[in-house]
Amino acid sequence: MSENFVVTATAPVNIATIKYWGKKDEKLIIPVNDSISATLSSDYMCAKTTIAISPNFEKDQIWLNGIEESIENPRLLNCIRNIKNKAKIGTDKLKWKIHICSENNFPTAAGLASSSAGYACLVYALSHIYNVKENISDIARQGSGSACRSIYGGFVQWYTGIKNDGSDSIALQLAPASHWPEMRVIILVVNDKQKKTSSTIGMQRTVETSKLLHYRVKYCVQGHIDKMIQAIKNKNFDLFAEITMRDSNQFHAVCLDTYPPAIYMNDTSHAIASFVHEYNAAANSYKVAYTFDAGPNACLFTLEKNVPALLYTITKVFPTSGSVKDYITGIPINIENKS
Ligand code: PMV
Repeated sequence: MSENFVVTATAPVNIATIKYWGKKDEKLIIPVNDSISATLSSDYMCAKTTIAISPNFEKDQIWLNGIEESIENPRLLNCIRNIKNKAKIGTDKLKWKIHICSENNFPTAAGLASSSAGYACLVYALSHIYNVKENISDIARQGSGSACRSIYGGFVQWYTGIKNDGSDSIALQLAPASHWPEMRVIILVVNDKQKKTSSTIGMQRTVETSKLLHYRVKYCVQGHIDKMIQAIKNKNFDLFAEITMRDSNQFHAVCLDTYPPAIYMNDTSHAIASFVHEYNAAANSYKVAYTFDAGPNACLFTLEKNVPALLYTITKVFPTSGSVKDYITGIPINIENKS
């Protein structure tokens, strides 16, 4: 058995087309509904984590983007504990202290799914250090829910599961990226500042106060999931685009229905959504779809053949200027082809 005492891993962010919002178990991070996402190519937006264990380290330590943070984060400690419980290395080495060094190559906590990449990367690197071979998506889930989907490339579904211990609340790949290689994502960074209401606080408040969330979970999400699976299976971009936008809109409606409201999209975000509808209407077909996470930044899904004209029009309609607070940049990104 080979043993590694230093491991470096990278993990890309994933963008949900059917959103996860709300937990039925806060501690275990079991969601109220299934979700579906696309994992982006690791060439662009990803987390990079190096982990080392050594008998010479005096204490456990973690650095995020070059700054030392407290290791006493319950979710982080949970991930380390859960991986160690499945570890297949000598018991002496389980006692060695750990150093974790993680960085993102994109704005952290700006509603760009940074925690999905961060925790997926952390748990993946931990699994290599401690020689854990089994499915680790349920452990990544306990770091940050959406992280379980970044364990896989391509199109991924996270199942709510029915067990109270969360052991069947796992992510599985629906299709590899090679199934739909023309798919592209353009990220429009509207604002890279840290969001005001974290997804943890926002979700908790939504579950406690929004009646619309319960309507969404009971009557809408499963229909969105079924149609999204069909769209991906048949590479039907029209259906994919419509359901992606409807689900994003419903997620933000639920956030507005939260009391006090959790507001993530700003005027620029709404202008982008209107632009997308007008662009599709002018083409008389679906060329592009928007989705917004818990922040103002837009993720646009489109097909490779549409990227040049779309980027050209975006730069005309939303000119980038260093002097304004909100700014927009976009790069076309492939979907990740991991298995
Ligand atoms: O995993 P969290 O706690 O960062 O929550 C992510 C929530 C959304 O990004 C808004 C939706 C999703 O499914 O990724």
